[in-house]
Amino acid sequence: MNKEIIKIFDTTLRDGEQSPGASMNTEEKIQIAAQLERLGVDIIEAGFAAASPGDFDAIEKISQKVERSTVCSLARAIDADVKAAGEAIAKAKMKRIHTFIATSPIHMEYKLKMKPDEVIKRAVRAVEYARTFVEDVEFSCEDAGRSDIGFLKEISDAVIEAGASTINLPDTVGFRLPFEIGAMVKEMSEYTKGRAIISVHNHNDLGLGVANSLEAIMNGARQVECTINGLGERAGNAALEEIVMALKVRSDVFKDFDTHINTKEIYPTSRLIATITGIEPQPNKAIVGKNAFAHESGIHQDGMLKNKETYEIIRPEDIGLDMTDTLVLGKHSGRAAFKDKLGKLGFDLDDDAINRAFERFKILADRKKEIYDDDIRALVTNEMTKATQVYEIVSLQLMDCSEGVPSAAVKIRREGKEIIDASIGGGTIDAVFKAIDRITGYQGELEDYKVKSVSEGKDALANVTVKVSFNGEPAIIGHGLNIDTMLASARAYIGALNSYLSMEGKLKERPHKVIL
Ligand code: KIV
Ligand code: ZN
Repeated sequence: MNKEIIKIFDTTLRDGEQSPGASMNTEEKIQIAAQLERLGVDIIEAGFAAASPGDFDAIEKISQKVERSTVCSLARAIDADVKAAGEAIAKAKMKRIHTFIATSPIHMEYKLKMKPDEVIKRAVRAVEYARTFVEDVEFSCEDAGRSDIGFLKEISDAVIEAGASTINLPDTVGFRLPFEIGAMVKEMSEYTKGRAIISVHNHNDLGLGVANSLEAIMNGARQVECTINGLGERAGNAALEEIVMALKVRSDVFKDFDTHINTKEIYPTSRLIATITGIEPQPNKAIVGKNAFAHESGIHQDGMLKNKETYEIIRPEDIGLDMTDTLVLGKHSGRAAFKDKLGKLGFDLDDDAINRAFERFKILADRKKEIYDDDIRALVTNEMTKATQVYEIVSLQLMDCSEGVPSAAVKIRREGKEIIDASIGGGTIDAVFKAIDRITGYQGELEDYKVKSVSEGKDALANVTVKVSFNGEPAIIGHGLNIDTMLASARAYIGALNSYLSMEGKLKERPHKVIL
């Protein structure tokens, strides 16, 4: 029997990016989009084109690269947004505009300050205008979970008539319970049958995003919107890997449905997102958490040895996790083996980028005995974030970390010139960052500092993530990677400054103090 395909609409690059601290640069987004395509998602929501020139640029580049998935941009129901979305995805092989407006009484009255009939007019205009750019238009009733079902039907009739082929019903605030989502989806899919696909987009504020999505599928939804690792605003969005694996593992229940997802790409995709964003899934996170396949108790271990199915409902290899092959390369590995490994980890790099990464790998292999998949992921993603390098750390010397006053001397390169300066600080990291401030003339406000070891062993790489605000503007994330934690910290801080300076016009603005 032919199974019905549930379309997987991935919004990691749009709603996922709205997770605090999850912002990604263009090169990182392109790598993620390539991996999402390999994973087999039907639709990649690549961003919100009107949000910033950076978002537009990333969507445009993703559109030129992706071939097998539909590339989509979000747009408010405003002409300028729809135009930006249409232009950003113009070069995509398969393209979609996703436009939305709020439909719940509370949003219409307080946020939009609009009457329901005005909301319908705006929605219709947006869909009609979107159809002048693309054939495939999705319309979302923002806060559908708290909207009146009669109004949902009325606005759906109008936007379908205007040319929308997908009606998305987001539970924007994650308020609904599975039986309520099921009832709403059933009524709406019966009402729109044969005219549009019903989609759901469930937020996870009550921890029910995945359960609500599965209930929606049972009741007629044929598209689910979700993110890798459940990234997203507040408590996040329904996790793609959990929805897909529930459909697969419980195919006895979901026997009529299938997806295009290659589940063996789930784990590599999850690792790529965690490495790029610096946001690790909690250890006990279903499917992709570090402990998802770890059996600690003696009774469980005994059962596993006798028959894995006693305690394991998913085989690690089904999600692309090879429990026996985490140790990968060493200092004698050649470029060909390294390149092959990059491919297996989902990186699609040009020759120059491979050569740069290989050089860094060799330097690391001289200092670190065993190199793991996660080391390579960190190495390569770190290289990507360096695309726009204005300042570069040349060397770092710490002068007193135990007694007395911590102090640091830093040498930085800018446009071929090397500048050195030193500072004291409340602690060593404070001294390092202040020395950098003295050289660059930008006083960064450190809002967050995190250090994580990338793989195992005393010689593990330190991956430092900082959140820094420059000139009182919204904070920027920077990542730094090194065996030496202080050097990784300095690189993370300079990385954040480089990202800040790569924003439009920033380099032209003079800092309050320049010592060059
Ligand atoms: O949560 C939400 O309502 C959204 C829409 C823009 C689809 O993200
Ligand atoms: Zn959302």
